Amino acid sequence: MGASDHLYIFDTTLRDGEQSPGASMTREEKVRIAKGLERMRVDVLEAGFPAASTGDFESVRAVAEAIKESRVCALARARDPDIHAAGEALAQAEAGRIHTFIATSPIHMQNKLHMTPDQVVDAAVHAVSLARQLCDDVEFSPEDAGRSEHDFLCRIIEAAIDAGARTINIPDTVGYNLPEQFGGLIRTLRERIPNSDKAVFSVHCHNDLGVAVANSLAAVQAGARQVECTINGLGERAGNAALEEVVMAVKTRQDVFSCSTRINAREIVPTSKLVANITGFHVQPNKAIVGVNAFAHESGIHQDGVLKHRETYEIMRAEDVGWHTNRMVLGKHSGRNAFRSRLEELDIHLDSEEQLNEAFARFKTLADKKHEIFDEDLQALVTEAGAAL
Ligand code: KIV
Ligand code: ZN
Repeated sequence: MGASDHLYIFDTTLRDGEQSPGASMTREEKVRIAKGLERMRVDVLEAGFPAASTGDFESVRAVAEAIKESRVCALARARDPDIHAAGEALAQAEAGRIHTFIATSPIHMQNKLHMTPDQVVDAAVHAVSLARQLCDDVEFSPEDAGRSEHDFLCRIIEAAIDAGARTINIPDTVGYNLPEQFGGLIRTLRERIPNSDKAVFSVHCHNDLGVAVANSLAAVQAGARQVECTINGLGERAGNAALEEVVMAVKTRQDVFSCSTRINAREIVPTSKLVANITGFHVQPNKAIVGVNAFAHESGIHQDGVLKHRETYEIMRAEDVGWHTNRMVLGKHSGRNAFRSRLEELDIHLDSEEQLNEAFARFKTLADKKHEIFDEDLQALVTEAGAAL
């Protein structure tokens, strides 16, 4: 069966994002972020892991009570107490989901779980069935799927779907896969599992090799219809796929993707700032979409092009992701056109071309000594140029 044209965005900032060492959040902070995610219209938000601590249980419960427009999800290992805790924490949710998982790679089954593959399948089926008694919407993840054997994945996923899972999430838990390989895995699973059309295929990619977003996008091209991701790419170790990058790649390259999201992209930057302020994890300036330089132009050639037509050097509009506008940074690479245009914006009018030349020459000299020229610098050097003539 062909995949649908809706791509579900499952945000896990409050769960996997919080697993970034040093990024833990209070209940109130989680509710504030959850409301930002709801404004952004994420389809599902994973609020936490209720069995992990009393605090996490209370946070999931508070988020479940506060959120009405997104589905609220709680994580549970494939163990009865975890699943009961998740069900209880979600009791007041308008729309809830229990996400249960168990590891399926040989290294995890032998060394961490000390379970045989048959025991793992039985535990998964039991967990999904129990979760379905507590919640209509159940997601199952074979943890470390990226390093699991394909035959075994097919077997356990088919059994989980038969037991009632309606979302099958394929995690690349340790960020080991590369895009072509990961896209191929999703294609293979969808083709080989006889009941695969009864579930939405989801992906959850970690960024250990810096390809979490590329892997997620390759999976979407192969028919995955849910992407698990986090604001600013927060998450365990090197993080998860960044929500803002996945969403904007799909929106910007509609020629490539046969699906779209319902995300209100104008909420991306405000939510990114909220998460950065609360967690203290600041965004690097050159980070795609949400870095302060993502829509800034410094070189004269680029500034001249953008002033003539923005699409010469912009594939997205800053305003569409929630920035006030794009930015012309005046520095040593800037040209006369950007210089003149900034003076006009500041309502500074020079009497002659000669004065402009003199001011521009002074600007270049100053720019060699300073990283960025601010409006006050411009004001001062124009006054000096006027006096010199
Ligand atoms: O990375 C992972 O495998 C996870 C699972 C719990 C989905 O976070
Ligand atoms: Zn993860």
